[in-house]
Amino acid sequence: MQQEDKRVTRFLSPGPAGIAQAAAILRAGGLVALPTETVYGLGGLAADPRAVAAIYRAKGRPSFNPLIAHVADVASARREGIFDSRAEKLAEAFWPGPLTLVLPLAPGASVCDLARAGLDSVALRVPANALTRGAIAAAGGPVAAPSANLSGHVSPSTPVHVLADLDGRIDAVLNGGACPVGVESTILSLLDDTPRLLRPGGVSRVEIERVLGETLAEAEAGPEVGPILAPGMLASHYAPRAAVRLDAQDLEDGEAGLDFGGRFHGVRGKVLDLSPRGDLTEAAANLFSMLRALDAEGAKKIAVAPIPDADLGEAINDRLRRAAAPRG
Ligand code: TXA
Ligand code: MG
Repeated sequence: MQQEDKRVTRFLSPGPAGIAQAAAILRAGGLVALPTETVYGLGGLAADPRAVAAIYRAKGRPSFNPLIAHVADVASARREGIFDSRAEKLAEAFWPGPLTLVLPLAPGASVCDLARAGLDSVALRVPANALTRGAIAAAGGPVAAPSANLSGHVSPSTPVHVLADLDGRIDAVLNGGACPVGVESTILSLLDDTPRLLRPGGVSRVEIERVLGETLAEAEAGPEVGPILAPGMLASHYAPRAAVRLDAQDLEDGEAGLDFGGRFHGVRGKVLDLSPRGDLTEAAANLFSMLRALDAEGAKKIAVAPIPDADLGEAINDRLRRAAAPRG
């Protein structure tokens, strides 16, 4: 690891004081493992790209999967995703509970680009654990939370599991005891005419079909969902219009620059620096928004400075390679 980013992980009690402490840490951009009915989630404020980057970093995730945004109630969910009548019915039937809905992003939504891996959709759920809903409400915004384990490890269903992987890497664990469901939420996409089961989970297919009165499409049914299903193959979700040139030492004529650590300092042309001080967590937090901003400038090509492959740099480079890959 390039920077250790050592933290003292606090254990928060399951009551009003623990909820308030969890919310305060989240509001300050910190990371709190939160109990849900499925598994413990590694929570950070979904609107804050630095907090989201820190989630990927704490997990040691090699790529930026889109994360589930956890909200305290349906009203909050409606501010993030566009609800149709199917979404309303499902929320009414299953929330709070282990169902995640993938919906078109609502105008003015707060979940940041990085948490959505650059997609124009958002995955939303209202978890059943009252401590966690309380912490989310008090934090004042959606909480992005993948399972609170190191990448590649099994999902944690107790606070002890969480600490086994993440002690010293996150700010706190809110102690909610063992998770009653223990498998992750069902993920259902409502982006198409036919609802599509992206991941089986805590709510069964038949329960969903009964509420909707229709048969769910399989995740495998369409090639267009392939990239979403396979972690690490999410690149096609954010391809800038501009061509991308990696490992650039300087800017060629007509190029915009995506810098790291001030390499392009003083060159002429439009340059944005992912992290002038060379911090990979900061760079990850800025990646999607800066790519978008350079694209919006209308540059034909974006030259990207070399980025170390260590730590979050691996994920950044993974995304950039996909952005630079030939378009089909
Ligand atoms: O039970 C759960 O769902 C747990 C607890 C903590 O809530 N969370 C969880 O999160 O399992 P995670 O990060 O492991 O699952 C996120 C998955 C992604 O891998 C992706 O498959 C899907 O949700 N996802 C998220 N946003 C999506 C989107 N916009 N479109 C399609 N799939 C999306
Ligand atoms: Mg997981």
